[in-house]
Amino acid sequence: MALILDALFEILGKPTVADVAAELAMFVTPLWIAVVVGVLLGWAWRPEWAAGLVRAESPGPLPPLPPEPSRSSGPSASAVEVAATANDEKRSDSPAVTDDDLEQLFRLVEETDGGPVWHKMMDRSLPNMTYQAWRRDPETGPPEYRSSTIYEDATPETVRDFFWDDDFRMKNGWDDMLLQHTTLKECPATGTMVVQWVRKFPFFCSDREYIIGRRIWDSGRTFYCITKGVPCSEVPRRNKPRRVDLYYSSWCIRAAESKRDGRMTACEVLLFHHEDMGIPWEIAKIGVRQGMWGCVKKIEPGLRAYQVVRRSNEPLSRFASMSQINTKFDADQLRALETSTDPSDDIVEAEKPKNWTSNIPRFLVVGGAVAVACSLDHGLLTKAVIFGVARRFAKIGKRL
Ligand SMILES: *[C@@H]1O[C@H](CO)[C@@H](O)[C@H](O)[C@H]1NC(C)=O
Ligand SMILES: *[C@@H]1O[C@H](CO)[C@@H](O)[C@H](O)[C@H]1NC(C)=O
Repeated sequence: MALILDALFEILGKPTVADVAAELAMFVTPLWIAVVVGVLLGWAWRPEWAAGLVRAESPGPLPPLPPEPSRSSGPSASAVEVAATANDEKRSDSPAVTDDDLEQLFRLVEETDGGPVWHKMMDRSLPNMTYQAWRRDPETGPPEYRSSTIYEDATPETVRDFFWDDDFRMKNGWDDMLLQHTTLKECPATGTMVVQWVRKFPFFCSDREYIIGRRIWDSGRTFYCITKGVPCSEVPRRNKPRRVDLYYSSWCIRAAESKRDGRMTACEVLLFHHEDMGIPWEIAKIGVRQGMWGCVKKIEPGLRAYQVVRRSNEPLSRFASMSQINTKFDADQLRALETSTDPSDDIVEAEKPKNWTSNIPRFLVVGGAVAVACSLDHGLLTKAVIFGVARRFAKIGKRL
C-alpha cells in the first residue's frame, strides 16, 4: 500500500483544493471500478484485498486461496495440471525440435505463414544498432511479437553463439531476467539442447520456469534458431516457480547492410516471440510495451563484450560449441516448395482503431490495469502507470 499512500501524498501536495478534489476523484472512482472489475472477473492476479471482499460477502468460511491461483482457478486447475503432466510423460521421448519447427519459422520469416497483419509498435536506433518491433493479436493464443535488430559490425556466427550462451547471459548480466539455467539434455549429432530456465517475472508475480528445446538450422550463413517450450516429465512441476508451457521464441540471424556504407558488415536478428505468462494478455501487452526498449538496449553492450571475449581466443564455452552444431538445409529449395503452395493474398486488412464506446472489454481491461497497479508495492509498474491509466479513465469518464 506504500505506493498508493505515496500517490495520495503527492495529490495532497497540490496547490489548490480544487486540484486535490479533481485528482482524488480521478483516483478513487477508477479504483473502485477496478476493484469491482477485478472481483467480477476473478483474474489470477486478483489482489488479496479484493479476494477478501468476496470472502467477506460469502456465507461460510472459504478454503484459503492457493499461494498463486492460476487463471482457471478451482478444481479445473488441477485437472489442467494433471493433463499437462500426462502430456509431459507421453511426449518426452519425441525429439524436442523437428523439421516442422523449421518450416514454421521459415514461413514466419518469409511472411507466408498466413497469420494476421503485423502492426508496427516501435522504431528506435542507436549509433550501432537499429531496432523495430511489431505485434499482432491472433484470434486464439497470446499476442505475438516480431522484431528486427540490426547490429553494426557483427558476424552472424558470433551473434548466433551469443544468444545461445546461457553462461554468458548470466555472467555478463545483459539478460538480467535469467536467474538460473540448467542443461537437461544435449544431442551431439544435431546440436539440440533441452534446458531449464528460471526467469524473473517482469511484473510482480513469482518467478517462471521454462523447459526449452532448442536447435539451429543453417542455410549458407543464415541461421534459423528455434527455442520453444517442450514437455518434460523428468523435472516435476512445482508451485514456485510456476512453469510456462506455451513459449515460443525463435529467430533468424543473417548478414545485413551496414547503414554506414551499405556493405554487408552488419547482422540482423529477426525475432518471433510469444508466450503465455499466466496473466491476462492485455495486461501483459501493457507491460511489454513499457519494458521492451529497456531490455533491448541492454543487449548491445552484452554483444560487444561477447565479441571481445571471442577475439581474445579464450576456449569456446560448452554453449558456443553446441551452437556451432547446425543442421544444414537449402533455404531456396524450401522457398520453392513454399511458393508452390502459396497461401495467396488472404492477408487480413489492418483493423481500424475502434471507437472506445464500442469497445467495452478494453475499458474493463484498463480498470484491471489499475487494480494490478494498486496491488503492488514495488516493481516495474509505478505510480506513473497508475496515474497514466487513471487519467485515461478520467477522460473516458468525461466523454461518457
Ligand atoms: C559504433 O561503432 C564505431 C565503429 O566500430 C565505433 O567507433 C563507435 O564508438 C561506436 N559507437 C558507439 C556509441 O558504440
Ligand atoms: C465515438 O462514438 C461517439 C458516440 O457514439 C461519437 O459521438 C463520437 O464522435 C465517436 N468518436 C469517434 C472518434 O468516432
